[in-house]
Amino acid sequence: MTRRGPRSSSTPGGAPLPEAGLPTTWLDLAPQPAPLVWREVFGRAAPVELEIGCGNGRFLAREAPRRPEACFLGIEQSRKYSLMAARRLEKQGAANARAACAVAEEFLAERVARGSLAAVHIYFSDPWPKRRHARRRLFQWTLLNLLADAAGPGAALHVKTDVDWYFELIMSLFIEHPAFELLSFGEQLEFPEEDLEMTGFESKAHRLGGRVFFLEARRLRDARA
Ligand SMILES: C[S@@+](CC[C@H](N)C(=O)[O-])C[C@H]1O[C@@H](n2cnc3c(N)ncnc32)[C@H](O)[C@@H]1O
Repeated sequence: MTRRGPRSSSTPGGAPLPEAGLPTTWLDLAPQPAPLVWREVFGRAAPVELEIGCGNGRFLAREAPRRPEACFLGIEQSRKYSLMAARRLEKQGAANARAACAVAEEFLAERVARGSLAAVHIYFSDPWPKRRHARRRLFQWTLLNLLADAAGPGAALHVKTDVDWYFELIMSLFIEHPAFELLSFGEQLEFPEEDLEMTGFESKAHRLGGRVFFLEARRLRDARA
């Protein structure tokens, strides 16, 4: 039987080398500890904001340079899109943002230290409208439990969707969950003029005349998840 070698090469000291051709802003989770050490990921101590389902990285590319005091990580279950996001960030020279390929539920459970996130962003998560696909929806009670564990006291949750019934479902989860307080919600009435100021799906919804709904919640300081 032929033995296969390691998937990635390593330095004499044992530290894995990045795969050739991968953007420096792409975070390979394989060699990283669980949970992640944010100071090591970003090379400094700073509030960390997570975007779940970052797609091609438009939000990160817009927000990270505007808020250099924070660090941003976008995760995407699609490797292709996580790489697109990382390339966008690299092109832009974003020093405080990274993209990684990960499934949100596993990532929150295994890779995020309890209470270590300053904010979470989830924009235009797939609604999976058919009843038989409902289990695939990101927004479930279990996700809120995971978010409640991962978010620090007072952390902000930012959500947008263009699907009215999914918005109601998301709202009801945040209203019912004891670890969160709903701060504001409603229909977004103004849109940026610059297309790149919007996420890919926000831009599409706006272009097609769709409605966009937003919600802001906060992780309560004293609540138990
Ligand atoms: C409709 S797209 C929205 C992309 C981007 N946020 C935007 O506004 O343009 C939803 C994205 O979430 C990703 N996604 C869905 N479920 C996920 C999960 N459980 N973990 C990580 N990413 C997920 C999908 O791969 C997809 O790229």
